[in-house]
Amino acid sequence: MTLSIRNLDAALGAEISGIDLSAPIAASQAATIEEVWRERLVVVFHGQTLTDPQLIAFSRNFGELDPPGPNPYGEPFLKQHPELNVISNVVENGKPIGNLGDGEAVWHADMTYVEVPPKAAMLHALEVPPPEAGGNTYFANMFAAYASLPADLKQAAEGRIAVHDASTNSAGMLRKGYQEVTDVRQTVGARHPLVRVEPKTGRKALFLGRRPNAYVVGLDVPESEALLDALWAHATQPRFAMCHKWQVGDLLMWSNLSVLHRRDPFDPKTRRVMHRSQIKGEERIS
Ligand code: SIN
Repeated sequence: MTLSIRNLDAALGAEISGIDLSAPIAASQAATIEEVWRERLVVVFHGQTLTDPQLIAFSRNFGELDPPGPNPYGEPFLKQHPELNVISNVVENGKPIGNLGDGEAVWHADMTYVEVPPKAAMLHALEVPPPEAGGNTYFANMFAAYASLPADLKQAAEGRIAVHDASTNSAGMLRKGYQEVTDVRQTVGARHPLVRVEPKTGRKALFLGRRPNAYVVGLDVPESEALLDALWAHATQPRFAMCHKWQVGDLLMWSNLSVLHRRDPFDPKTRRVMHRSQIKGEERIS
């Protein structure tokens, strides 16, 4: 079957059709998907019905799976498949079946609080709220954001290292085993340059991770806050972003080191259930 590729009318994103991801895919198809993912940073597939083992098998075409970071409850959501994460607001028998609830998930990249963050993430929609109930997900292109930085901000970011907070998830919930940050100079998490150079191409991208509890090493706190606020305000402009309105069966694959993503809150009376994999990174950010 021939893959059909359509770039989205946005600063990133492409839709691929003509493929059933529940079945093994050819090496040439995996190579095409990877090429589109590298170029367009977010790949959208519609109408995919995948079991957890099929999601794992598809993900493995692109590398080794990276298990999810610690969640607020201290145990994997899928006991049979701890390498997968569940993103959901559903509570069964008094226990959340997944992470992040129904609130906003603020702009972030995944697990940048570790030394070698995952390079890719996949999110497969099993249940979604009706369109008017919210829960859209946005992605922003950090190559485009870097390329259009005003000269003074580019200069201010160059050579600077930031601490990426490990203590909270993107919904602001404290992860099990962490303490609340009261002074950003004490934030626990990996340190990465604010500007990432993509090893294969030499292209530069902003590498911001997440705003809460971030700190630019070596600056006074007010200076660090001002620089981070300016970079985040620039990077999250709609001109660098795309919006995804979910349907059941959508599978999105994104370049975790080159984009930020955020999710709108949604009606708590609705159900949203997504299963998620991520692929181990191969680079220290430099
Ligand atoms: C996430 O941040 O990975 C969740 C995105 C979503 O719920 O759409």
